[in-house]
Amino acid sequence: MAFNKIWCTVALGLLLPVSYAHTDFFTSIGHMTDLINTEKDLVVSLKDYIKAEESKLEQIKKWAEKLDQLTDTATKDPEGFLGHPVNAFKLMKRLNTEWGELESLVLKDMSDGFISNMTIQRQFFPNDEDQTGAAKALLRLQDTYNLDTDTLSRGNLPGVKHKSFLTAEDCFELGKIAYTEADYYHTELWMEQALKQLDEGEVSSADKVYILDYLSYAVYQQGDLAKAMMLTKRLLELDPEHQRANGNMKYFEYIMAKEKEANKSGTDTEDQVEKETEVKKKDYLPERRKYEMLCRGEGLKMTPRRQKRLFCRYYDGNRNPRYILGPVKQEDEWDKPRIVRFLDIISDEEIETVKELAKPRLSRATVHDPETGKLTTAHYRVSKSAWLSGYESPVVSRINTRIQDLTGLDVSTAEELQVANYGVGGQYEPHFDFARKDEPDAFKELGTGNRIATWLFYMSDVSAGGATVFPEVGASVWPRKGTAVFWYNLFPSGEGDYSTRHAACPVLVGNKWVSNKWLHERGQEFRRPCTLSELE
Ligand code: OGA
Ligand code: FE2
Repeated sequence: MAFNKIWCTVALGLLLPVSYAHTDFFTSIGHMTDLINTEKDLVVSLKDYIKAEESKLEQIKKWAEKLDQLTDTATKDPEGFLGHPVNAFKLMKRLNTEWGELESLVLKDMSDGFISNMTIQRQFFPNDEDQTGAAKALLRLQDTYNLDTDTLSRGNLPGVKHKSFLTAEDCFELGKIAYTEADYYHTELWMEQALKQLDEGEVSSADKVYILDYLSYAVYQQGDLAKAMMLTKRLLELDPEHQRANGNMKYFEYIMAKEKEANKSGTDTEDQVEKETEVKKKDYLPERRKYEMLCRGEGLKMTPRRQKRLFCRYYDGNRNPRYILGPVKQEDEWDKPRIVRFLDIISDEEIETVKELAKPRLSRATVHDPETGKLTTAHYRVSKSAWLSGYESPVVSRINTRIQDLTGLDVSTAEELQVANYGVGGQYEPHFDFARKDEPDAFKELGTGNRIATWLFYMSDVSAGGATVFPEVGASVWPRKGTAVFWYNLFPSGEGDYSTRHAACPVLVGNKWVSNKWLHERGQEFRRPCTLSELE
């Protein structure tokens, strides 16, 4: 299976040139906040332009009023008016120069400042790919968190600070994006939502005929012929001349007639097949479903008996001199595989420093394509990440030492500290951090063996979503700012522990920052010696 071949980016990422070109805004809130500031600047510039245009119009108005009065008086008694030599002079002056000046004023372009600002900023604007990416993120969230279309459209999400609605036109747009992905399930949901909002009287430029056209097609593609016909009928009521709809209607009628014919001759095998697959569906929970359930916090609960064996304690790093006087708080999150969480293990100041160091370097996270062996972006890993070396900041170096002290593992063979930022919809689908037997070359360049363990700092709280889940065993670990979790990916024998398969759930509301350290086998020979049994 393709999933088995997926493994996280290795430090190889370091060897590649970092690209500053604009890519994939939607993957990280860090970069999107810059866009908000850009937009704010543009509004200021737009307001300046409006002011300039208004003041120009004001001058023109004044001139018009003055001339209106003047010409009124003049036309009433032209000869008397011109009998005054000053008036005669002024008429010459006005016609020869002043009207010309007015013409220049009317022609004057006040939009220079705004347009040049716009031109500069536009280079950094999101493109079609970003817009599609953000839309797909919404669809992903809808599935993972079982949100109905109406909830999403009315913005009724848990933990939101700034409520936001989707217009009928926005819903139509989402439906169209799903349609271009041949995702007829979401096309139907969103076209229906657009239609519903229009039926409820929302004023919009979205056109019911267009919506019905997409909707009936999506419904037909999913096999509901009767509903597709009903929708096409509705479309034809609005636009009786619609060519495609007329054609479709005839086609639907033909298929319906044929199906009726077939039913008469009495074949129920199809029903049978359908029932059987239904039974199968119930028994077998694919990983995706488990993953999504855990993300929603609907995970299997641990038995009370097992739960009782989870503890919290003060931990001194196995009598590490740096922690004897000030041990740290440690909680058991899960027993098998053992996952522990350290509390208050990274300070807010350290988090800020790490984020600031990472921000300018964040780029779309990549994975190894098992076919080509190259690093590529993938829909199952949507985030931005950057690597920080201990050399570049005492804070990073201090963090590395802390990991070494508390895990008892040598960090000199570990990969650099990886910082990741997940925007809304950002996620990392189920994967292993270690390389499997069928990919022995995965970490060959590093020469430090496989990834023995993972240390993961949570550097933010997440308003909703964003848990780290382990679908094999049913564990959900929720982000808590300032804490870190740690687990071994390998058994002491060096065998991979398949129960450590894990994922980062999509962020529903908010913004998730983590940083992680992948520790490697080399250097741990005496720190975590091998045992005799393979899977101990
Ligand atoms: C990873 C990972 C989990 C998370 O980056 O390999 O599994 O919650 N991250 O971000
Ligand atoms: Fe991972």
